Amino acid sequence: MSGQDHVAIFDTTLRDGEQSPGASMTLEEKLQVAEILDDMGVDIIEAGFPIASNGDFEAVCEIAKRADKAVIAGLARAINADIDRAGDAVRYARRGRIHTFVSTSPIHLEFQMKKTEEEVLEIITSTVSRARNLIDDVEWSAMDATRTPIAYLSRCVEAAIRAGATTINLPDTVGYATPDEYRAMFEAIRNAVPDADKAIFSVHCHNDLGLAVANSLAGVAGGARQIECTINGLGERAGNAALEEIVMALRTRADVLPYDCSVDPKFVTRASKLVSAVSGFPVQYNKAIVGKNAFAHESGIHQDGMLKNAETYEIMRPEDVGVKETSLVMGKHSGRHAFRQKLEELGYEIGDNAFEEAFRRFKDLADRKKHIYDEDIEALVENEIATQGEQIKVIALTVIAGTGGPQKAILTMDVNGRHETRECSGDGPVDATFNAIKEIVPHEANLSLYQVHAVTEGTDAQAEVSVRLEQNGRMATGKGADTDTLVASARAYVSALNRLMARQNRPDHHELRAV
Ligand code: KIV
Ligand code: ZN
Repeated sequence: MSGQDHVAIFDTTLRDGEQSPGASMTLEEKLQVAEILDDMGVDIIEAGFPIASNGDFEAVCEIAKRADKAVIAGLARAINADIDRAGDAVRYARRGRIHTFVSTSPIHLEFQMKKTEEEVLEIITSTVSRARNLIDDVEWSAMDATRTPIAYLSRCVEAAIRAGATTINLPDTVGYATPDEYRAMFEAIRNAVPDADKAIFSVHCHNDLGLAVANSLAGVAGGARQIECTINGLGERAGNAALEEIVMALRTRADVLPYDCSVDPKFVTRASKLVSAVSGFPVQYNKAIVGKNAFAHESGIHQDGMLKNAETYEIMRPEDVGVKETSLVMGKHSGRHAFRQKLEELGYEIGDNAFEEAFRRFKDLADRKKHIYDEDIEALVENEIATQGEQIKVIALTVIAGTGGPQKAILTMDVNGRHETRECSGDGPVDATFNAIKEIVPHEANLSLYQVHAVTEGTDAQAEVSVRLEQNGRMATGKGADTDTLVASARAYVSALNRLMARQNRPDHHELRAV
């Protein structure tokens, strides 16, 4: 392939994705996500919004120091302090980028920015120049580009390129465009702007109408050569374009999408599971590429065809995206060595303490569950990763349930090293368990999501529970897995509570949400 056919993948899971309410990640979690993005060959990782909080700044610096291959970008509004802070954070990177943005649509100018078109043009020139004085790689984004008249958008793009922007991103911020319109916008701008060939054009699509991936590919047909996307399509509202869908569309339909992309799709399943575990956002079963059912063929006609020739119904092979045949893995006699090997095979590298705890829970699981599958180990390890360093832990739970009522829970928790036990009743065993948590750790948060699914088949399957808590506009999601649904529920609630408390102790970076 020729150089100009390379489409750069710009992953914004750690910035646009992490901004979605309830999806915030700890530093350790961000580092894990960044590592897998770098390993998989993502060209640019947008590591965060450095001015938003000290935590965001620290995460961008640390990711910048550790990244091997990817360019590390930090987001900045069109404000000098933002640009300087982003420059400070990405200067640790082998290759850093400042990504600065300003709104350009009439509705944003009038109601949000209260600025005239001419004022915004001046802001573009001064802020892009300031960024360019700090670093050679500067991306400029026109927020709400798709609702901006072409004539004005062209003037903005021209000003940004003249001031030194090397990438021009034209986002569909509100997920409003159709593929034809989005493609036409890129063609029109690239024709109208005299120095358009001096910059790489980029797509950034939100999925409000379910068109984010289609629009991204249409933008590429219109001349864009960078796609901004997130793992699992994580992002505010309906999310962003899903990286795994983009990468597999480019690969599977190379006949009509002749672009070269450096992401190795074998990593996408692992990346999807990691992002789901650390964000607490479950992946829908029928999600393209990474959903549990993405490669499952249930109907008789499909199964018959698949047995005769997999290509009758399968356009991609599960192994292309890193899905391995589900195997019966281990039992209660498996030792530490076998467990470590299995973790390596599944792509997990965890520290010694986390390993010991995961191994203890594996043994405990093996005592209660006859067959242990890869999915069981993954649920267990992801739970371990997501709950590392938590202040509050579930130690023991006994529940009295059944038709008689009232249902009762006797719960012991470790709160900052102190064990506390309470007995509570409730409308059902889950309610009783959650009431006991509230007695031990009083809080005002409301439960906004309670979801249970079975990790594998069978009545002894582990239940994976997701819980989302909300307090004063902040949200946090936690997950728990166990063969006992009530234990899994208690763990998920406590994990969400830990995250909510951690977020309450740091400045609210979501007041500075970019989108
Ligand atoms: O959607 C959007 O417009 C953004 C910008 C900050 C690039 O996320
Ligand atoms: Zn966005």
